[in-house]
Amino acid sequence: MDKIVFRDKTIVLGVSGGIAAYKAADLADKLVQEEATVKVVMSQNATKFVDPLEFQSVTNQTVLTDLFDGDFKDQIYHVSLSEEADITVIAPATANIIAKAACGIADDALSTVILAARSKIVMVPAMNNHMWLNEATQHNLAVLKSRGIEIIEPEVGRLACGEENAVGRFPKTETVMDYLGLALARTQDLAGKTLLVTAGGTREPIDPVRYIGNRSSGKMGYAVAKAAVMRGAQVILVSGVTNLSPPYGAKFVSVETAEQMLRAVIENLEQADTVVMAAAVADFKPSRKSLEKIKKERMPKSVELELNPDILQAIADRKTNQIIIGFAAESQDMVVNATRKLKKKNLDLIVANDIAKPGVGFASDLNTAVLIDKKGQIGDIKTYKKTSLAEEILDWLGTYSSFK
Ligand code: CTP
Repeated sequence: MDKIVFRDKTIVLGVSGGIAAYKAADLADKLVQEEATVKVVMSQNATKFVDPLEFQSVTNQTVLTDLFDGDFKDQIYHVSLSEEADITVIAPATANIIAKAACGIADDALSTVILAARSKIVMVPAMNNHMWLNEATQHNLAVLKSRGIEIIEPEVGRLACGEENAVGRFPKTETVMDYLGLALARTQDLAGKTLLVTAGGTREPIDPVRYIGNRSSGKMGYAVAKAAVMRGAQVILVSGVTNLSPPYGAKFVSVETAEQMLRAVIENLEQADTVVMAAAVADFKPSRKSLEKIKKERMPKSVELELNPDILQAIADRKTNQIIIGFAAESQDMVVNATRKLKKKNLDLIVANDIAKPGVGFASDLNTAVLIDKKGQIGDIKTYKKTSLAEEILDWLGTYSSFK
């Protein structure tokens, strides 16, 4: 079953007048792609940065900019919005709207919607660093937090006003999405659990610029990590190099080689009650790493290889009492080979993936897979979205750990 957290949810998106208003259009677009209904309310100043029509075309909903607009006045729209909203998110939130909300001022459509809101409110401030650090703003934020309004802290970086390395940037859309997903998550069945998840491929250096790697994108492991955070778990994500942003709320440990991954896993093992080994660990590495870049003229005829440590095997050999979940990348006899790995590495569950099938597996959003535990194969081999497969794995974990 596909359990997309935003599906059928109504998100009221309040946009106030800051330069980051255009980033709210991207946020609206991504939420709609995740099948949420997004209803946008804009302050007058926000309409100077982004045309309401842009939000309208992205969300397929009329945009509220004026309480006395002919389209809305008969419906007391701001009140009906407050009833429909599963969550209200103010992005970007300027210092001005933060101050108004803290004082309970309702003098336009956006501030009225905030005052009338009955759902959880999440604010995503973005502004000049001096405005952010101003005592008045910090005081207003403290007031809002004391009333249960959640604030996603702005990021440090280059600001629109030209300041470098200053606090006030609107976060990445993905960060906001992760936060909202977490806030909307229906089930917290993994609360109290700590998952150690590995993801991505390892890189084994030949010299300072070249390496032996593999085609893993990290999507599967990141999907497990993200879903686990949303279901209430503490997550430690040990990741090889990927293009993905770490999920909001996870502890993130970045590694490059299999040796480094092994070390990071062992260091964090004790805190975890479950290990999900989704990383594509390179089985072998060059026996020697050249400290200098190898010149063309001195090209070696061959690269001598040696075995890398098997991280799962190392955990199994320690005979810890964690629940251990492994993956098996198979191009033939998927179930037989994966079952053999399950036994050999003493796993509780193995997720067998078909890597021979075109269009699925490495770098794709899809995986053709089947879960196998100590009792045998669970269900049929199916093609899943990686996000759905992650939920299946966690469903299994939820049931299994309650019997263990
Ligand atoms: N794995 C590991 N350390 C390695 C290699 C693999 O921890 N050096 C883990 C993977 O993360 C995965 C599981 O072992 O969870 C199975 O990986 P896979 O590549 O399918 O199998 P291998 O054990 O490497 O066996 P083979 O390459 O012979 O199929």
